[in-house]
Amino acid sequence: MTKPVILTGLRANNDLHIGNYFGALLPLIDMAKNKAEDYQVNLMLADLHSFTTPINHAELQPQIQATLRNYVAAGLPLDNPSVRIFRQSYVPAHSELTWILDCFTGMGEMNRMTQFKDKSAKLHEDRINVGLFNYPVLMACDVLLYGAEYVPVGDDQSQHLEFMRDIADRMNSQFNQELFVIPRAVKEQHEFFGKDQGLRIKDLQDPTKKMSKSDESGKGIVFLGDNPDEAAKKVMGATTDSVGAVRYDLEKQPGISNLLQIHALLSNEPLPKVIEHHEGQERYGDLKQEVADQVKEFLNDFKERLANVDDAQLMAKLEADEKQMNGVANATLLKVQKAVGLRA
Ligand code: TRP
Repeated sequence: MTKPVILTGLRANNDLHIGNYFGALLPLIDMAKNKAEDYQVNLMLADLHSFTTPINHAELQPQIQATLRNYVAAGLPLDNPSVRIFRQSYVPAHSELTWILDCFTGMGEMNRMTQFKDKSAKLHEDRINVGLFNYPVLMACDVLLYGAEYVPVGDDQSQHLEFMRDIADRMNSQFNQELFVIPRAVKEQHEFFGKDQGLRIKDLQDPTKKMSKSDESGKGIVFLGDNPDEAAKKVMGATTDSVGAVRYDLEKQPGISNLLQIHALLSNEPLPKVIEHHEGQERYGDLKQEVADQVKEFLNDFKERLANVDDAQLMAKLEADEKQMNGVANATLLKVQKAVGLRA
């Protein structure tokens, strides 16, 4: 019996911060480890998706390598055959199937995508490329080529998931055969993966918004690649309040609450325990110092884990998995090519 398939896409991004680490990397790695027994877990580095908005192309290769190494340093297993890792562009079927499905997709369907509307609203018309527009078709192919039923989707991606289901169903009906497995509906995805997002690390300078790369000064963000001493200073300079007592209160004391959350995540202790331990303390400096020390230790440790990533093992894993993925993807592509008349 073949196992049901999970697929998700990772963005090439070497500017990861601790918010990404605890909010995205670790949950994804946990998911992969926990599900691998009963499911085939396919993790795809979405390199073709990288230039839907302009990037520095000279940096893409190092960025892809850095992203993969970050995942491995964060615990992604390289020795589990049920967890496959591959680079999208190393499986050319993604591009081929995208062209075919483009021709079965309505302009209106793509125009209605709110992510496209949001992203394109900020750009001058000549800077909006066609790839940004039909990106959901490529994303659909990422999933449909492997018959994946389960796709962890954030709220910003649920419309794209609905589109995958539509186009899969449309092709199956039009050609009167099961060309594609239809991915599960959004609600079932949430039931399967659990919608609980866990703790969300906030910006150190403005603790009312989440830690995000778009913060301009970078002072409120702890990047995984930060110099540990500099990062500790960022924590010491975190915005707090004038209440004068450590309490977990997201409304009235967002800065202190954020430090408590970071504390809990870094020490891998339950938040209530950390809160109890610090409740009522009056000197914010003590809490800051403790978190700053933890951040320093965490970054030093992460550097060491990065230095220990076995690049040869990583490359060997990628190449072996890409070979497998090509086999699966090409079989699906051939079925489609036959159905549409490109192959006898
Ligand atoms: N669009 C996803 C994101 O922005 C990344 C992605 C690309 C993806 N292809 C995918 C996610 C296929 C799930 C399935 O994060």
